[in-house]
Amino acid sequence: MPSVYIKTYGCQMNERDSEAVAAQLVTKGYTLAASEHVADVVLLNTCSVRDNAEQKAINKMENIAGDIRKHRPNVVLGFLGCMAQSRGQELIDRLPDVDLVLGTQKFHRTADYLDELLAGKRNKVVDTAEEPGSEGTIREHLLHGNARNKSVTAFVSIMQGCNQYCTFCIVPYTRGEERSRPPEDIVAECRQLVAHGVKEITLLGQIVTSYGRRKTPHPASLPSPHPMGRGQGEGKTPFVQLLEVVHEIEGLERIRFTSPHPKGYGDDLVEAYAQLPKLVESAHLPVQSGSDRVLKLMHRGYTRARYLEIIRKLRAARPRIGITTDIIVGFPSETEADFTETLSLCREVEFDNAFLFKYSRRKDTPAAALPRQLPEPLIEERHARLLALINEIGGRKYSEFVGRQMQILVEGPSRKNSARFSGRTRCNKIVVFDGSERHRGELMDVKITRAGLFTLYGDPAILNL
Ligand code: 5AD
Repeated sequence: MPSVYIKTYGCQMNERDSEAVAAQLVTKGYTLAASEHVADVVLLNTCSVRDNAEQKAINKMENIAGDIRKHRPNVVLGFLGCMAQSRGQELIDRLPDVDLVLGTQKFHRTADYLDELLAGKRNKVVDTAEEPGSEGTIREHLLHGNARNKSVTAFVSIMQGCNQYCTFCIVPYTRGEERSRPPEDIVAECRQLVAHGVKEITLLGQIVTSYGRRKTPHPASLPSPHPMGRGQGEGKTPFVQLLEVVHEIEGLERIRFTSPHPKGYGDDLVEAYAQLPKLVESAHLPVQSGSDRVLKLMHRGYTRARYLEIIRKLRAARPRIGITTDIIVGFPSETEADFTETLSLCREVEFDNAFLFKYSRRKDTPAAALPRQLPEPLIEERHARLLALINEIGGRKYSEFVGRQMQILVEGPSRKNSARFSGRTRCNKIVVFDGSERHRGELMDVKITRAGLFTLYGDPAILNL
C-alpha cells in the first residue's frame, strides 16, 4: 500500500483535520511516511489566515514538485484545507504538478480521490464544494495502542465554520457557515478517547462559543443536531450545556476549548468556570485591539470596557486563571492613539501571553478595501513595541510561579530538548523537568524552580524531601 506524508500549516483545527485524514488513510491500508522524501503521496494541509502562511505552503509545494517529483514522477501531490478552498483550480494553474485540491468540507473524501488518482482513473481532482453534514466527518483519531505513542491529550472537533465576519478575517469564506455536530456524537467520541487513556480533551471549532446556535439542515441519516437547544437548559447556551455533558465523562480529567469569541463569554460560561472543576483555569480570549474605534471597524461585537468586564468576572470565578490573547497590529487606519489603547489594555489585563499578528490584507475581506492601509515599516515598529511589552509582562507573570507547587499532565519529551520531559499546567503553561517515559500521561505535582520566557522548569523530586 502507498505511504502518505501530511504536513500541516496553521491552527489546531487544521492539526485535527490532518489527524482525521491520516486516520482515514491508515484505515484504508496506507502507511504514514516519516518525511516527504519517502512518501508516495504528499499532502499539504494549508492555512489562509495570513499571507505568509499561504506563501510557506506554496513554496514548500514548489520545492517538492521541483525536487522530489523529478526523481519520483509518480508521487501524488495535494493541497488540502483553507488555501485549497479559497484558491481552488488556481493552485493547479500555478503549480501544474499538483494533482489534488481538496476544500475544507471534503477531508473525508481524501482516500477515495487518492484511490482514483493512484489508479490512473483521474488525472486531476479539484473539489471545493459545500457538503451538508461534513462537520460530522472529522471524528476519526490516530489512537496508538503502545505506551510510547499513547496520546493523553486529544482534540475533538465540535463545530465548523464562522458567521462572525470580522472584517479582517478570511475564515468565514474558507470554512463556511457555522455548522455544529450533535452533542451525543461529540460525547460518544470523547468517551471513546477516554477509554483509550486520554485524560485531557480540547473542544475545537472556529468559534466554539457559537456552538449549536444555528440550526443546519442535516441529512436524514444523522440525528437532530440540537436536542439541547436554548430553552431546555435554564437559559444556558448550547456551548455551556455541551461543557456540562462532557464534564460528566468519568475518567476525563481536564477540558479545554479553542477558539472562543469574547461575545460568547456570558455569565453562564463564567459560571461554568466556577462550577466545573475539570474545566481548566485557562482562557484564550482574542481581543485583537484595545481601541473601541478599531474594534468597531473590525466588527468584533464588544467594546474595550466589555472585554475588561469579562476578564474581571473570570478572575473573580478563578483567581489563578491563565489568560492569553491574539492581537492584530496595524489594522487599516490604526493610529498611534489606537495603538496606545492596545498597549494600555495589555498593561491593564496583564496577559500571560499574547500572540501578535501583523495585519495581512486578505482577499475579498471588507478590511482589504478600507482606506489608510498602513505601511509595513510602521506595522513592524508597533509590533516590536508590543512584543517587548508582552515579553516584559509575561516574564513577570511567569516568575511569580517560582516556588509554587503545580499539577502538570505529562505530554512527552520536551520539544526543545528531547532529553527532558514536558507537561502542561491547568493554566496552560509548559513545564520542563527531568522525566522519563514512565511519566508520560501522568498527572503529577512538580515544584517550579525556575522561569524562562514562556516556559517553567520544575522538579518533581523536591516534593518528596
Ligand atoms: N491579518 C493578521 N492577523 C489575522 N488574524 C486573523 N486574520 C488576520 C489578518 N488578516 C489573526 C487574529 C486571529 C488569529 C488566529 O489570527 O488575531 O485571532
